[in-house]
Amino acid sequence: MKKGLCVYPGSFDPVTIGHLDLIERGADIFPEVVVAVLHNPAKEGCFPIVQRLELLARACSHLPNVRFDQFDGLLVDYMKKLDAGIVLRGLRAVTDFESEFQMAQLNHQMAPDVETLFLMTAPEHAYLSSSAVREIGMFGGDIAPFVPACIVEDVRRALKP
Ligand code: PNS
Repeated sequence: MKKGLCVYPGSFDPVTIGHLDLIERGADIFPEVVVAVLHNPAKEGCFPIVQRLELLARACSHLPNVRFDQFDGLLVDYMKKLDAGIVLRGLRAVTDFESEFQMAQLNHQMAPDVETLFLMTAPEHAYLSSSAVREIGMFGGDIAPFVPACIVEDVRRALKP
């Protein structure tokens, strides 16, 4: 198993400043971080996978030890493919706990050598989610405070009512 490699999986539809904060903190702790976007054919999402990856890459261009990938199927299979042992996830509030706990337990049962590491989301981002950004943008609200500055225009254009 590759030491020092961690995987931050998610939908990132689109990446928010909350995600970016977590990626930056992960990149401070681990020599190598792979941000892995789930490609779920049953759930198309709002932004195409290619655009989600492009927005992530632009938002993280200052982080040389972070790379980007997509995966489908089970996360534990993707972890095995990368020979990675650590899943990084953010916890925003107690409301996240139950589903995150379930996911971590199931993943651990399927792949006992995979550990899930949680970082508490910074309090100023605790309210933030991609779905809230999508809703605000689609109803004509200002998404600028919630996504990295370098991607604001693209997100705004994509969500424009
Ligand atoms: O950003 P999200 O939507 O909270 O990320 C959820 C994600 C992608 C981490 C999770 O849905 C996932 O790992 N899906 C892959 C399928 C899988 O492995 N399921 C079993 C664990 S319950």
